[in-house]
Amino acid sequence: MELKFARRMDGFEPGIFNVLDDRKNERLAQGKPVYNLSIGTPDFLPEPHIVEALVRAASDPGNYRYSLGETAELTQAVRNWYSWRYGVELAADELMSIYGSQEGLTHVGWALCDPGDVVLVPNPGYPIFEIGPYLCGAECVHYPLLEENNYLPDLEYFDPDLAEKARFMVVSYPANPLCMAAPDGFYPRLIAFAKKYNIVILHDNAYSDIIFDGRVGKSFLAFEGAKEVGVEFNSLSKTYNLTGARVSFVLGNREIVGAFKRLRSQIDYGMFLPVQAAAVAALNGPQDSVERNRAEYQARRDALCGGLRSIGWNVPDSQGSMFVWAPVPEGFSSSVEFCFHLLDRTGLLCTPGSAFGPLGEGHVRFALVRPVPVMDEVVAAVKASGICGGGL
Ligand SMILES: Cc1ncc(COP(=O)(O)O)c(C=O)c1O
Repeated sequence: MELKFARRMDGFEPGIFNVLDDRKNERLAQGKPVYNLSIGTPDFLPEPHIVEALVRAASDPGNYRYSLGETAELTQAVRNWYSWRYGVELAADELMSIYGSQEGLTHVGWALCDPGDVVLVPNPGYPIFEIGPYLCGAECVHYPLLEENNYLPDLEYFDPDLAEKARFMVVSYPANPLCMAAPDGFYPRLIAFAKKYNIVILHDNAYSDIIFDGRVGKSFLAFEGAKEVGVEFNSLSKTYNLTGARVSFVLGNREIVGAFKRLRSQIDYGMFLPVQAAAVAALNGPQDSVERNRAEYQARRDALCGGLRSIGWNVPDSQGSMFVWAPVPEGFSSSVEFCFHLLDRTGLLCTPGSAFGPLGEGHVRFALVRPVPVMDEVVAAVKASGICGGGL
């Protein structure tokens, strides 16, 4: 039988990541060191009280039915969380659980746009921002995030014809991969822009708790008028080290949440109850691990960015997120070429900036997923390779 697949599958070639992975495995097979800083999976463990809540709930046979939505305890825990953490009051119908922001951002487009509708996504940006709209046939238009604008969209000079056409715009700070936090003054301007052009804002807030140098991670919903124009995606993945449990939320505009709920009710029977219990324990329980993890990420950032700068590679300090955005040193034709070179010469594996859109070219992304002593080893390996000292 000749199998035929949808044309949309053509956009999902495995490509460069598989090749880099093969090269990494070759090194490991030869007994050579590999420092894998390519993927943003935290190496911290979830707190014991969260695991205990999950295990307790998982040992109750009554918890294996369809949940058909959030439990009352989870809804209340999320409402409390937004109140104490962000100063945002939410009604019960202004939030819904999703299986990770990744899943939510993929599917929300199905509720918001029709094939051919224009959607604005950041460039460089986290790839899922584009994949969701692509799957539902929308036309993704990149808006540039440039260093000279502090990696913020230039709303003042935005093409009005394009803005008129746009159905929604994805915005996310602290930004992956750019590692920039947005100043407070940005959000009122964004909300005014959204109102002027009737554009829904989807704010992805995955990293409000991984933010450095005294900055305070906020919610988009804390700014006046935000609920009128959009929703926020927030995730327990990074703040509570629950990446595999897939616990996230969409919160804000009641009509958008309602429409999305209607759509999801066709495809989803609700989050596994023990995972909901774990989320309640995370949100209602002690919060000291959040600050501990943040401080550890900052120490890793200092070791990596400071260390690389000390050997001549001008890598700026990340303002937030669990990543570092580093310019490719001179002498390389692309971020992919540099990634291979770095892996071969040092064992350090990172992600080429071009994976985040055309404007990501010229940079690579490191994930802060190893402790400080390993970051020191990484810096020593880069130094020994001569990459930053004219030893290309
Ligand atoms: C910007 C951003 N949004 C969303 C996600 C995914 O979050 P979740 O685990 O909730 O799907 C990530 C994960 O790396 C991310 O970097």
